[in-house]
Amino acid sequence: MRPLFLTTALLAFWPTTGISGEKKTVTVDADAFAETAAFLRSHCVKCHGAAKKSGGIRLDDLTTDVAKDMERWIAVRDQVRDGLMPPPKEPRPENIQSRKLVAWVSAQTGIKAAALPNQGNLIPHELLFGKPATIGEAPLGRLWRLSAESYLGFIRSMGKVPTDKIIQPFTMVPERGIKDFAGLYTIDEPSTEILIRNAELMVEAMAGHEIKEGIVKGKNGSVREFVVLMDPKLEPSRQQLKTAVRQMFKLAVGRPPADADVPRFLGLYDKCAKIGDRPGAVKTMLQAVLLRSDAMFRSELGQGKVDGGRRMLSGHELAIAVSLALGDRRETGLMNAAQKDALTSKDQVAEHVRRILDDPKNEKTRILKFFREYFEYGKAIDIFKEKPKTFVHAPQVLVSDTDRLILHILDADKDVLREMLTTERSFANYSLNKNKKGEGPKPAVTLNPINNKGQKAPEFVYGFEKWPDTQPATLPKNQRLGILMQPSWLIAHATNFDNDPVRRGRWIRERLLGGTVPDLPIGVVAQVPDDKHRTFRDRLQVTRDAKCWKCHRMMDDLGLPFEQFDHFGLFRNVEQVEDVDATAKNVDKKGKSLGPVMKPAPLDTTGTITDSGDTKLDGDVADPRTMVRRLGDSERVRQVFVRHAFRFFLGRNETLSDAKTLQDVDRAYVASGGSFKALVTALLTSDSFVYRSASSQTSSKGASR
Ligand code: HEC
Ligand code: HEC
Repeated sequence: MRPLFLTTALLAFWPTTGISGEKKTVTVDADAFAETAAFLRSHCVKCHGAAKKSGGIRLDDLTTDVAKDMERWIAVRDQVRDGLMPPPKEPRPENIQSRKLVAWVSAQTGIKAAALPNQGNLIPHELLFGKPATIGEAPLGRLWRLSAESYLGFIRSMGKVPTDKIIQPFTMVPERGIKDFAGLYTIDEPSTEILIRNAELMVEAMAGHEIKEGIVKGKNGSVREFVVLMDPKLEPSRQQLKTAVRQMFKLAVGRPPADADVPRFLGLYDKCAKIGDRPGAVKTMLQAVLLRSDAMFRSELGQGKVDGGRRMLSGHELAIAVSLALGDRRETGLMNAAQKDALTSKDQVAEHVRRILDDPKNEKTRILKFFREYFEYGKAIDIFKEKPKTFVHAPQVLVSDTDRLILHILDADKDVLREMLTTERSFANYSLNKNKKGEGPKPAVTLNPINNKGQKAPEFVYGFEKWPDTQPATLPKNQRLGILMQPSWLIAHATNFDNDPVRRGRWIRERLLGGTVPDLPIGVVAQVPDDKHRTFRDRLQVTRDAKCWKCHRMMDDLGLPFEQFDHFGLFRNVEQVEDVDATAKNVDKKGKSLGPVMKPAPLDTTGTITDSGDTKLDGDVADPRTMVRRLGDSERVRQVFVRHAFRFFLGRNETLSDAKTLQDVDRAYVASGGSFKALVTALLTSDSFVYRSASSQTSSKGASR
């Protein structure tokens, strides 16, 4: 066991600055309250006054004593923020007015309108793209905890550390969509314990050695500068200790220590050597370097040159920020450039971003991750399905087919979003693995005549009778287009036994139209009747009830066109429903049921796009193909896509101050003919990425404003 004093000594090196919460305003500004009260009077009180009290709620007697009326204030804010109140038929309050109310209540109550990834759309699209924007305020500096992947990536780049023994200390929120947001994560106590333990393991491996006949010999993969200090008889010189600290800095932080940093670590060594053995003290000192904040956080405080009211990120900050935007490790070219002071302008950053994106050896895992989190087709693997009788259901293969398709489209790098929504081609049951003769590609799943009797291979789900040997292959005509009709996406947005038009529609509302649907309230029974003799569309009529429809009108009609496919993603022209009479007669001699008999029911694939904010988009659609084509042509959809890319690569929701960045990025994407590389380059060289506010060096938790 590690003695307690060591834990305490190590914790003294713990990052304490800059990651705590932000200031709260407590005083109530009378003018601001008057404005809020006026808003309620003009938009709410006619239904929520003493006389009418709609929904049992009165809003005419709210006071400045926010603490007393906390619950009501929060309810007011959430209803206005989500656009639910006033009800749709009433005159709309002005955007800016609504935003003010939301901000005011948040400030007064100290309960923030949440900054979760899925709440990014709460800023009305028109305020970001409605008119040409000017340079906004630079964001505050921030520390961004490493993601789970980059924590491992950093450890891997330190040499032969046994990563199988490392426990992952960093969990991610179970939210839908883009997860790695700077404002969501700090390091809590349980992860601290794990981090200290991991640091011990890592130092143990890096100082790995054996002593034979009094001579210390390093083990495979150990670090020479550390091994020499493992001789218990040695009294290490100051120079040897400094060299070890320097070496550990380079490995853990990616740069040599500042002169002022070193004495603290030597001091820790001295303290420990007094009580314990010298090699043990060396190890503790090295662990302390691993536990430095800059080994676990991306520092984006803005420590570079001042430029008006803002500061640029320093070369080192930029090197790490760009590395981790595009990968999970420090990228050598960027780190070297920072060392040589050659990473101080946007042009220099752009050059490196292009170099990395163009490098065929770059596996683009982070880029693919963006599309996985954006489209969310990977969930297909978690949806349990009963084994179908006529074909092999292999969700892993379906997901990997979609990965391939995305990478294929990214390779061409033309009109990327539209291609992803409307491509007529697909991979199907595809594997890059070579067969025994070294030939590839080949089917990912080949049928085993014993286990798969009478079944078809996974390419069948796409509509191919035979495995296409050139892939991506052109899909059967007039059936499916793009990612949203990939079996992986359809299954990811389905339940065990049925389609899920609600979640499909929600995805389109949020990810393509930039809308927000409030979460399903606790206590609502979210079920369709189990009447197997009715089509699913018919059963979903339950949500047309006014108390459900206020939310469901934003989802259901966008998801219903995908009834074109069954819940395995198979194309169909009729829906099979139970034949009640035939089932009743389907009994054996003793009258015992022999199971349901099905019959075809006509299939309805129509839907409607409503309230998209783009009049060219709104209107009925006959089928899912017409719908995605219309979406793929839309400027609005493209801009909403840009907003999501912003969130992924900047690790936060956009604010009004980012309007110019968003518009510039959108323009760069359009000007390049829809190149995703151009989009990413524009994001990583944008003001929002590169600058921080000069007025404040303290960090917020990455949150907005
Ligand atoms: C035209 C009448 C009308 C107007 C105007 C109106 N409301 Fe409502 N409100 C209702 C009705 C009816 C209900 C109950 C049914 C429901 O929840 O949809 C309700 C419910 C609510 C609820 C409770 C919702 C819940 O799910 O718990 C809140 C909070 C609320 N309104 C706030 C507001 C605010 C804030 C405004 C002004 C911005 C406003 N309302 C304007 C009619 C109105
Ligand atoms: C405040 C908004 C809201 C209200 C009100 C609401 N829902 Fe929903 N409902 C949702 C959302 C959001 C989802 C999608 C949940 C998800 O993404 O997992 C959903 C999902 C569903 C689903 C699909 C379940 C699934 O597994 O995906 C059904 C069925 C449903 N709701 C029925 C109802 C019915 C019936 C009512 C009225 C009694 C109702 N809802 C009221 C927001 C709402």
